Amino acid sequence: MLHRDTLDRPLRNLRISVTDRCNLRCQYCMPEEDYVWLPREDLLRFEEISNLVDVFGELGVDKLRLTGGEPLLRRDLPRLVRLLAAKPGVRDLAITTNGVLLAEQARALHEAGLHRVTVSLDTLRPERFKALTRRDTHARVLEGIQEVRRLGWKGLKLDSVVVRGTNDDELLDLIEYGKRTGAEVRFIEYMDVGGATLWSMDKVVSRTEILARLEGRYGKIEPVIEESTAPADRFALPDGVIFGIISSTTAPFCLSCDRSRLTADGMWYLCLYAKAGTDLRGPLRRGASRDELASLILPAWQRRADRGAEERLALAKRSPLVQVGDLRKDPHLEMHTRGG
Ligand code: GTP
Ligand code: 5AD
Ligand code: SF4
Repeated sequence: MLHRDTLDRPLRNLRISVTDRCNLRCQYCMPEEDYVWLPREDLLRFEEISNLVDVFGELGVDKLRLTGGEPLLRRDLPRLVRLLAAKPGVRDLAITTNGVLLAEQARALHEAGLHRVTVSLDTLRPERFKALTRRDTHARVLEGIQEVRRLGWKGLKLDSVVVRGTNDDELLDLIEYGKRTGAEVRFIEYMDVGGATLWSMDKVVSRTEILARLEGRYGKIEPVIEESTAPADRFALPDGVIFGIISSTTAPFCLSCDRSRLTADGMWYLCLYAKAGTDLRGPLRRGASRDELASLILPAWQRRADRGAEERLALAKRSPLVQVGDLRKDPHLEMHTRGG
């Protein structure tokens, strides 16, 4: 049975962050010199994640996505994938990765039963990658993408956050790269989420502008008409190639949002923009039963009224959501802790 919140949105989609650590320092997500990390002993063990997923599953969640930080930094991840993939109620099991460690792990993840991979890829230029991420590992990301292809793994998506003056001259190159690799490219508007301390509205390239630029090159673009709760709106180029745009900043989609997120230390957040969440690790470690855990989750969802991105849009003047000092005091406010 599906449980609905105050805006009639079902609880169906859980994003599970398996670590808050990352091996890149993307400017739009982790621009600071240093970060406060979650204590290691607080990280949920795989069995704990699996138990929580069972509770969420009974409440209607059938779509899971592993996130981070960078999820491939979590040791032995294929073991977690195996645990989750074995659950009959899991209809979709995906991962969002930056791809740096993908070449060496793709086969094991595939064999463990992971359904789909999304790789963050903001640029095709190694030098630019270095400037954007403060790491020199662009070639490894491309190798990771090729490895997914070699395995014949379907459903590959490439996510590009478009930042004006940084990579907005690569829209066409990214689409062409997607065609060559058989991947669906999605352009993401730069969002004023926690952690995006360098955000400003003038760096956002809107969905309207992205579409206009692509139409200038390819000709008429048609929207793909479909029922979906996914954040991406999909479009077709004249040659039939499909791409997506995630317009959280200028045209949010809160009314169809069925997502919630579990941090690596077992805090459960409803909205990407939420200031507070529910601690599930404490009760879990004190031995709470499934019913007791469900009784923490269900009423919180039924009370849910979040429309974080829409509320941001309604502001007259927008600036970064959280200041650096507050991020240090509570790293759960960071996008990289919350897993996007
Ligand atoms: P599928 O459509 O199932 O492939 O997954 P997805 O698009 O939800 O997953 P992905 O991790 O690729 O999400 C892409 C990006 O969309 C994230 O990194 C965020 O920037 C953004 N996003 C994801 N979920 C939300 C959400 O609930 N609200 C908002 N505003 N943005 C989101
Ligand atoms: N704006 C938009 N997307 C972001 N991500 C992280 N920070 C931001 C931001 N400020 C998302 C992107 C990236 C993933 C790791 O997290 O989708 O690909
Ligand atoms: Fe969902 Fe909040 Fe994102 Fe809106 S801003 S789509 S409610 S997570």
